Amino acid sequence: MKIDPWSSVTYQDYARLRDEFGIEEFTEELWKDLPNPHKLIRRGIIFGHRDFQLIHSAIKNGKPWAVLTGLMPSGKMHLGHKMVIDEVIYYQKLGADIFIAVADIEAFATRGYTLEETEDMALNEYILNYIALGLKPEKCRIYFQSKHQDVKDLAYILGKKVNWSQMIATYGFNGSSNMTHIFSPLIQTGDILHVQLKKFGGIRPTIVPVGVDQDPHIRLSRDIAQSHRLYNVTVTRDNKIGVFVKVDENISKLLDNVEKVLNDLNFTKLKRITDYKAIYIEDAEETDIQKIDMELANTEPEFGGYGFIQPSATFHRFMTGLTGEKMSSSKPESAIFLTDPPKESTNKIMQAKTGGAVSLEEQKKEGGKPDDCMVYELFLYHLIEDFKELHDIYLSCKSGEKMCGDCKKYAAQIMEKLLTDIHQKRKTSHDKIKDYLF
Ligand code: TRP
Ligand code: SF4
Repeated sequence: MKIDPWSSVTYQDYARLRDEFGIEEFTEELWKDLPNPHKLIRRGIIFGHRDFQLIHSAIKNGKPWAVLTGLMPSGKMHLGHKMVIDEVIYYQKLGADIFIAVADIEAFATRGYTLEETEDMALNEYILNYIALGLKPEKCRIYFQSKHQDVKDLAYILGKKVNWSQMIATYGFNGSSNMTHIFSPLIQTGDILHVQLKKFGGIRPTIVPVGVDQDPHIRLSRDIAQSHRLYNVTVTRDNKIGVFVKVDENISKLLDNVEKVLNDLNFTKLKRITDYKAIYIEDAEETDIQKIDMELANTEPEFGGYGFIQPSATFHRFMTGLTGEKMSSSKPESAIFLTDPPKESTNKIMQAKTGGAVSLEEQKKEGGKPDDCMVYELFLYHLIEDFKELHDIYLSCKSGEKMCGDCKKYAAQIMEKLLTDIHQKRKTSHDKIKDYLF
């Protein structure tokens, strides 16, 4: 099985995806002690992660960390797109440096838009709405891939450690794939890793919030980050902790550096094995690896390396379309757009597929199915903050007390407020765009 980030299939069996691709479950220990965990987190809509513990400990220890995500400017922004930015805004409140890539090169390569068209959509649909939703300009940079020289340079340079076989295996490219498309995952890797260059805040844990369709890019970026490291810290075959030099120049200087770093961390039982380009640490344990690796990463630029820390990621579920099929910009009845006039959103909600029974009578008797209901999904993802209120809806739907007509009206009402508020804020956001652009 392959995940194709450019196809239009929706991935639904999240547990299976997790197992198959080694995505970790986003369990409570990772977030319950964070300040006001966001509802997307509390409700398991963000269902998986890679290395989120690095972000957790950066937050807990007051260390710097960054968020990098991207938007594909193709069409109008709908509620499904809102999820990632809700998550980003939550992280911004926790103190992260925020970077947002406009994937104009990718949209040009894979969706057939011109760069001018993508610029217009990015500014007037996405960025304007991001501001209206509450993204702040402080410690926040939005940039266009096609205009960011450091990102493009990095894409070229980092591509050296990836070969064609790996690109075929990861993405299924073939002889008729166009070169700009083939290159776009490297640009995305440039997006993800450039924030760790000195100029952009330096080496630090970075979280990439995305939908699970983006996991191939996450894996590629993590591989590339790792393959550019000068050191590898690992458990050896004889069950010790070892630091290995991965390059062939400056070996003795690099090993001297390891000793210095380890001494500073109070490890004293070190054994240098020059033949293996290694230092064994007799008094370290597996749980020390991350800390040691992080310290060593920070010294790598002195020796010409990048010291990239492998980027972390969170993965969110996709919203179902209001019609019960995929939510898609090309099917206006399936999605509520943030620019929809409130009346229109009401119409869409009134037409939405619910988990109601065929007749009122039967629904009173058998109850409804909130788990199969697009209206309930709106409550869950966007409209209701309070757990108790949400839970009450769930229960009274199941028990057959609540009927779909009233329930839809209630959803439409809250949606109308939300959209009206966003419309208002969008009006004053035009002038602010420049404060966000790189
Ligand atoms: N490929 C992403 C999409 O289709 C957009 C994107 C570009 C991105 N660069 C990124 C996402 C970096 C996350 C991180 O939506
Ligand atoms: Fe959905 Fe509400 Fe109908 Fe239950 S009562 S199925 S939650 S619309």
